[in-house]
Amino acid sequence: MQTIRIHDKDFIPYLSQTAIEEAIKKLAADLNEQYQNKSPLFISILNGSFMFAAELFKHINIPCEISFIKLASYKGTTSIGHIITSIGLDADIKNKHIIILEDIIDTGKTLSQFLPQIYNQQPASLKIAALLHKSDAKMFDVPLDYNCFKIPNKFVVGFGLDYNGFGRNIPAIYQLKEE
Ligand code: IMP
Ligand code: MG
Repeated sequence: MQTIRIHDKDFIPYLSQTAIEEAIKKLAADLNEQYQNKSPLFISILNGSFMFAAELFKHINIPCEISFIKLASYKGTTSIGHIITSIGLDADIKNKHIIILEDIIDTGKTLSQFLPQIYNQQPASLKIAALLHKSDAKMFDVPLDYNCFKIPNKFVVGFGLDYNGFGRNIPAIYQLKEE
């Protein structure tokens, strides 16, 4: 098995590029159908979701917009428990159909702290789409409307996800190797 090393840790293959792309394509097909006359605004949460957003966007064929914001609650492989926002939301979201794009929902803390800001601006609707969902680790109640993969509570990298800044460029998803 092809192991990769990032900083001090080894990771093993977990989800192939093909599996990821197929799952995202399927999600895009659902969204194309469900948002046909709604001109949705996608909000991609940086940094982790840029690759998910780009891959999804290639297959969205209805009129739509996209905007990017930056929220982060992670340092290393465990949540640091508070949120750092460095790029704010510049789009006007009132009366728009919003779809939030997240790379991964772990505890749900990041989104649970950000969602009130969105609701305050009175969108027409708000749905959340996450590439990955660590269902075991869910501590905050975040509604997840669309999800490509449910994964165990193990640290992963690749396809936009990082370990201390590195590994985002890997086109597949790798899982932390057990010691
Ligand atoms: P939450 O606030 O605990 O749901 O954490 C969500 C954020 O933590 C995600 O947007 C990721 O940036 C990061 N994160 C959570 N789990 C992982 C992981 O396994 N690998 C890389 N980043 C992760
Ligand atoms: Mg993220």
